[in-house]
Parts: sequence; structure tokens; C-alpha cells
Amino acid sequence: MEMEMETKSQEEIEGKYAADISSIRAAYARISPFIHKTPVLTSESLNIMAGRNLFFKCECFQKGGAFKFRGACNAMLSLDEEQAAKGVLTHSSGNHAAALALAAKLRGVKAYIVIPKNAPKCKVENVRRYGGQIIWSEANLLSREETAAKVLQETGAVFLHPYNDGRIISGQGTISLEFLEQAPQIDTIVVPISGGGLISGIALAAKSINPSIRILGAEPKGANDAALSKSAGKIIKLHETSTIADGLRAFLGDLTWPVVRDLVDDIIVVEDKEIIAAMRLCYEVLKVAVEPSGAIGLAAVLSDTFRKNPTWNECRNVGIVVSGGNLDLGLLWNSMDN
Ligand SMILES: Cc1ncc(COP(=O)(O)O)c(C=O)c1O
Repeated sequence: MEMEMETKSQEEIEGKYAADISSIRAAYARISPFIHKTPVLTSESLNIMAGRNLFFKCECFQKGGAFKFRGACNAMLSLDEEQAAKGVLTHSSGNHAAALALAAKLRGVKAYIVIPKNAPKCKVENVRRYGGQIIWSEANLLSREETAAKVLQETGAVFLHPYNDGRIISGQGTISLEFLEQAPQIDTIVVPISGGGLISGIALAAKSINPSIRILGAEPKGANDAALSKSAGKIIKLHETSTIADGLRAFLGDLTWPVVRDLVDDIIVVEDKEIIAAMRLCYEVLKVAVEPSGAIGLAAVLSDTFRKNPTWNECRNVGIVVSGGNLDLGLLWNSMDN
């Protein structure tokens, strides 16, 4: 899909999806005492490489090391006393798990976290650090769901989905409120996409504030279900995924898909080697530690797919969401010992 989308007015967006500008502003009022207002960084060198001005919204500096704390915190604080008392539950291999554990700790309630055995070590460590109770499952979605269902039955905890939930989408959307205030000149925002909670919140808020802003998803080739879904006009799920970006292996949900279908202008698909090159630039030039899923926005903007497509020539001031910084550095340190 290469055509620019029609701009949608605020009235057309309001009330049609699982979140809207009002729920996103309410989320911001609820969570702002607890979150970090993350900085926006720029680099002349990267501007020259990209041939446009880039603005990096560094959610790797968010509490828990990823944007996920915004949604988890909003969902946690939206629960009434009776619900919260039973604790919360999720299944996640990564950043949502740690974010929920941290949000539950703030509210003084239990977090039950079902984690597949193949989850990255640093993300499991984060869950432990924030006092989440870990329940292991096999490394597949069925086992995760079955294990979570069992815990739900035993505890009566409230299940909080990583992305297919209006409270989570509203929390993630608060990024746009900050970003458009910190860098009002941005005409495009490039956002990593997996289950679509992040991009849905960002698109709903940004297009309500500035209907002509472009929202582009960045997705790895080995997990390109969102790009396939956009072309097919319906949700497509893959039999398997293969990418270094461990945060980008989930599929769109029924609440995120309508937003992605209607408000996301295009999805840029990149190879893992482009993600690795972008990660290296983040370390070497920006001096920021990012995980593969967090570097994919820069990879997309530097890719030939984006640069050679005349549709995107007018993207002069591009916001890039650097979504997270949690990665296992063990391999790198081990290689230095030799
Ligand atoms: C670092 C990072 N970036 C991006 C995403 C994608 O977010 P969503 O599933 O809401 O599309 C995730 C999801 O886990 C993540 O951990």
C-alpha cells in the first residue's frame, strides 16, 4: 500500500476504536506522577545519513527500560480496589511482563507472570527485580495461554493483555502527547509494530492532534504479519516467526487491527541485518543502549524501501520511537574475555 491515506477528522476517530484522545489524556493524568517524561534526542550525523531531520523519542529510558510501563501503569491504576486486591496476571516473554510487575509493586498488589522458558534472560531478571511471581510455561503460545488460564482459575487475578486492551493502548498513546509537545515540527512518526498496542495509541493521539501527520509501522521481515494484514485487508497470522527482534513476534489483535487498518499509513518491512546495523548506530552515534525492537525505526528510515519510495519524500521531520533498551549483553561481554 503506497498511497497516502485520507486524513481523518477528530470526530471520525473519537469513540470508534478501543481508545481515543480523551482516554489517552485521562491516562496521562493518571500515570504522569509515576512515569519518566523521556527525552527526545537528535544527531546531525544521523540526519545526514537519513537525508532528513530525525527526532528520537527514547523510551529505552522509561521505567523498566521500555514504553510498556505506560500502558501497564494505566491499566493497573484503572482497577478498583476489589479487582486490584486479587492481583494481576499476564503471559509475556518480555517487556510487558516486567512493566506489569513494576506497576503492581507500585500499587502494592501481586503480579503473576507466565513466562515461556525461552524468554531473554535480562527480561526475566527485570520481572524478578520488580517482585513479580514467575510461573514457567513451554515456549509456545498454547502453553502460555493454558498456564495463564490455570493461574487465573486458582487466583482470580485480573488478566491484563500486553496490547489488545483499551487501557493499555491509551497508556501507550501518551507517548504522542509528549512527543508532539517536545518536537512539534514532526510530520511523520515511525513506530515498531508487533501486537499493535504501541502504534494504535500513538496513531490515535497523534492524528487527533494533527490529522495530517503520517504514522508508519516498522516490522521485521521474519514477523511481517502487520504488513501482510494491511495488504490483505484482514488479520493475517503467521505459522512461525523468525527475527532477532524478540519484542516483535506477536500478531495484531481485534482491538488493534482496526486502528492499524484505518490510521497507519504504511508498514516498512526490514531485514534483521538492517536492525543490527541500526542498533550499532544507536550505540556508536546516539550513545544509547537499545534492543533490536527499539532500533527498528531507525532501520526503517535508513532502508532503501523507505528512501527510494517517492511517497515518503515529503517526510522531512521524522519522529522515531526508540521503544526499549532491554537486551542480554552476556554474549558481547563473553566475546571480550577472549
Ligand atoms: C521494545 C518493544 N518495542 C515494540 C514492541 C511492540 O509493541 P506492540 O506489541 O504494542 O506493537 C514491543 C512489544 O513487546 C517491545 O517490547
